[in-house]
Amino acid sequence: MTMGRHDVSGFPPDLDHTMDPEDWEAFRSLGHRMIEDLVNDMLALRSSPVWQPVPSDARKRLEEPVPMEPAGPEAAYEDYRELVHPYPRGNNHPRFFGWVNGSGLPMGILADLLASAMNPSVGTFENAASLVEEQVVQWLKEMFAIPNGAGALLTSGCSMSNIIGLTVARNAKALTDVRSTGLNGNAQRMILYGSTETHTSIQKAAELLGLGSSSFRRIPVDDAYRIDLGVLEASIVEDREAGLLPYCVVGNAGTVNTGAIDDLDALADLCERFGLWLHVDGAFGALAWLCPEVRPALSGLQRADSLAFDLHKWMYLPYDVGVAFVRDDAAHRDTFSTTPPYLTNSPESDAHGTSFSDYGIELTRRFRALKVWLALKTHGVSGFEAQIRQNIYQAQYLADRVAECPELELVAPVSLNVACFRFVADGLGSEELNALNRRILSRVQGGGMALPSSTVLGRRVVIRAAVTNHRSRKEDFDLLIEEILQAGHALLGAGGGAEHDV
Ligand SMILES: Cc1ncc(COP(=O)(O)O)c(C=O)c1O
Repeated sequence: MTMGRHDVSGFPPDLDHTMDPEDWEAFRSLGHRMIEDLVNDMLALRSSPVWQPVPSDARKRLEEPVPMEPAGPEAAYEDYRELVHPYPRGNNHPRFFGWVNGSGLPMGILADLLASAMNPSVGTFENAASLVEEQVVQWLKEMFAIPNGAGALLTSGCSMSNIIGLTVARNAKALTDVRSTGLNGNAQRMILYGSTETHTSIQKAAELLGLGSSSFRRIPVDDAYRIDLGVLEASIVEDREAGLLPYCVVGNAGTVNTGAIDDLDALADLCERFGLWLHVDGAFGALAWLCPEVRPALSGLQRADSLAFDLHKWMYLPYDVGVAFVRDDAAHRDTFSTTPPYLTNSPESDAHGTSFSDYGIELTRRFRALKVWLALKTHGVSGFEAQIRQNIYQAQYLADRVAECPELELVAPVSLNVACFRFVADGLGSEELNALNRRILSRVQGGGMALPSSTVLGRRVVIRAAVTNHRSRKEDFDLLIEEILQAGHALLGAGGGAEHDV
């Protein structure tokens, strides 16, 4: 059979069609305008609302069908300015304290522009981008006391890094060759452990890895939201006696709810005794390692078999960038490496570089390393250390402000950078207090002045502020308290606490 030729008569009219700008000078001006606009927007952030809903006319236009005809770059940019730019999530704002979002270092913004301009696929073929990624992970190893020979990969975020760590752990601890037989060849069901405060990405990983969410044992926590070591050990013993295969413990270096840090040294000891893999989810908490005075609380982190954390949270870099480390480089590569002929370079070739796809799931990867590289050169490790330390003090300051207000109650100890508290009022039952705090939250978020998020701790709905923001000042925390008090009093005055349906 021969391949037929497509009928292309009349199109393209010649063989020189291009999607590059027709007018490069106009493109240059547009680029200058974009930089002008974004710098002006950054300067205006503090006086802009943290968040505002997307109005219905903009929403409608965001549902328009695909444009079939070109509008040109200027018109496309106008649409962005009008429909997208005014309605951000808010995490660049100095008074954004929701979930655990980073605040976007300016140098990271420019770095992403440069990375897109270079546009390398950081995969197998050596070029300066792959050397920058190698240098960046080497720097991160130095910064976080990670052994030199450990396997490492920059990822899209901690969910992906957790999947990488737990996949290597599964393959290393399985009784059979999981890559070949899948879990079908494993006679014993593999079990992993973590506290009830563990992030859902671990459950997702257990499901994706074919272990099933019921193979993830959620161990209760103590009053400080740290894993209960006694219950953990009893659970491992019980599972072993039942013929199951305990294989991994997930330690938390900063839980998503309260920032609690498990006793990682004790977990490392226990894992050694039972021959289990220790994976540490340090999504944001691991970054506090940069402050020597916090290291004792994180001790054990450096003993993990695998460690996952984000640079787009507490290193303030624009999304997305996280990192996965695996102490045993060979185990890391044994889990992911494949060498198809179309990816194999001759070892003699100058172009023979690190094969990043041997360390993770993706083959084609963006040049994330550049923003880390430029940010570290710009600010130095000491710059990050100082900023992170300030955030820890700010969370403490917020907790102190809460303690001073009779209407507010701190609900969990502030062990790192997360403060959980709620509005309380005499005479309201627990459901009414929960409803009141939900309404306060939605009023404060909708008001655009400050943006905390919420969680539930021991059935109590709490207002939660996570401080991973390099723009926040002391006054921003005072404003947050003011907003919450105002909303609480206004709602109480309007009888708002009694409603359950918010
Ligand atoms: C403790 C913890 N682990 C994992 C994650 C997931 O990280 P990412 O959203 O970067 O995938 C988060 C996100 O908030 C987290 O707080």
